Amino acid sequence: MGGFGQSGARPVGRESSWTPGRLDGFGDRLTVKRADLRSGAMKIKQVQGVDEIDLSQRDFWLRPVEEREGAFATLRAERPIPFLTEQEILDLPLPVGPGYWSLTRHADVLEASRAPEIFCSGKGATSIQDLPKEFNEFFGGMINMDDPRHGRQRRIVSRGFTPRALARLEASVQGRADSIIDRVIERGECDFVSDIAAPLPLEIICDMMGIPESQTEMVFEKTNLILGLGDTELVPESGNIIAAALGAGGELAALMNEMAEMRRRDPRDDLTSALLNADLEDGAMTGDELASFFVLLVVAGNETTRNAISHGMKALCDYPEERARWALDFEGVSATAVEEIIRWATPVIHMRRTCARDTVLGGQEMKEGDKVVLWYASANRDEEVFENPHRFDVKRSPNEHVGFGGPGPHFCLGANLARREIRVMFERIFKRMPDLEITGAPDRLQSNFINGIKRMPCAYSPGKPES
Ligand code: HEM
Repeated sequence: MGGFGQSGARPVGRESSWTPGRLDGFGDRLTVKRADLRSGAMKIKQVQGVDEIDLSQRDFWLRPVEEREGAFATLRAERPIPFLTEQEILDLPLPVGPGYWSLTRHADVLEASRAPEIFCSGKGATSIQDLPKEFNEFFGGMINMDDPRHGRQRRIVSRGFTPRALARLEASVQGRADSIIDRVIERGECDFVSDIAAPLPLEIICDMMGIPESQTEMVFEKTNLILGLGDTELVPESGNIIAAALGAGGELAALMNEMAEMRRRDPRDDLTSALLNADLEDGAMTGDELASFFVLLVVAGNETTRNAISHGMKALCDYPEERARWALDFEGVSATAVEEIIRWATPVIHMRRTCARDTVLGGQEMKEGDKVVLWYASANRDEEVFENPHRFDVKRSPNEHVGFGGPGPHFCLGANLARREIRVMFERIFKRMPDLEITGAPDRLQSNFINGIKRMPCAYSPGKPES
């Protein structure tokens, strides 16, 4: 997905305080909060005044979730499209960008997504910072392209995501989920993220592409490094962030080039072979396109799905009555529960577009070349669209979330695969680890791009492996 974590924008050490003066004009929001409380919603905290909220500051993303949600609620109500300056990124030798418009309302995110000819993806990048040229070699896949290049690539890769191709994967998803549980079920406790949530999406993507089992660990490590760029724990302290990410991208690309050579000689029933099939309309991908698509796929498909599963499990533990509603009628509730998990988790916090010409959005004039950031995290809590938005509700309907992006050409290619993986994983957990509880606070990724959980301990009654 090619975005930096919120990255190391320098902390400014500014403390926020809540003064009685700021109560002025809060009447409406206090009413909302009381209503939320009645139904067991998360109690958001609006501790920052609108002028203090700066989404570019690293310390904003270190705040408790309740304060982050409170800040977005304040922006939606009082200044829904602020222009924010960019910060220097720690250890990243990139020029500081000119700033960006921040879309915090659902309606504005939808409007920008629907108009790719005005809000394009192919200028600079879809991360807030423009990417250096060499980065685009590995990270400039179709997510950073516009038509007609994007359309052609999207049609080629869609070959691997047809309902038939996904139905073929169903057995593999269930088999993989069961063997993941088999590996930990006797222990009675484990790390939910690395032992349960993380392996499934990675193993499934590797299955789809036909990557040998011996390489999955390497793919996992490199992906983590690329997406966790803002988190000092994941990048070598002395290391140059660009060099580390390029190295990781290069190793993934080399693996794919090897795979391409093997599949050209000996095609199989996998996505790699389908993408190299020159007989179909739109032709075959070139070796470079394949490598770049693979990097996009592992980066876009892994952390996102894993974090949806982790946040979903945490929410089900925090809202036991919702867990009970789903457990009582698993099949009947699954469709809405999975959508609510995506909304609740919003694993991708934002994407960026660039104005291809002068325009007006939400009453705000914007100039050609201006950066525009779509804050999915905020749109998914917009009280204009979601009733009681801070409440986790497995039967929420309608649920017009933008967790997979808004309606437009870049809408998540893997959405149906992700939905399937999440449903199957929870089906197996409900069946085989019905009393699983999260036993410690989640250790969160420091990022303004991926809503990640790095570690989260859990415990359950030990059971027997099935195979
Ligand atoms: C819960 C899991 C997931 C979430 C929340 C998610 C979210 C997103 C978002 C927000 C976008 C950008 C949409 C836009 O810019 O309009 C995107 C694009 C994309 N996603 Fe996902 N994704 C998930 C899982 C997956 C999976 C499992 C795969 C593939 C195996 C995948 C592959 C892609 C690709 C290839 C794109 C780029 C599409 C394009 O540019 O045309 N995603 N995803």
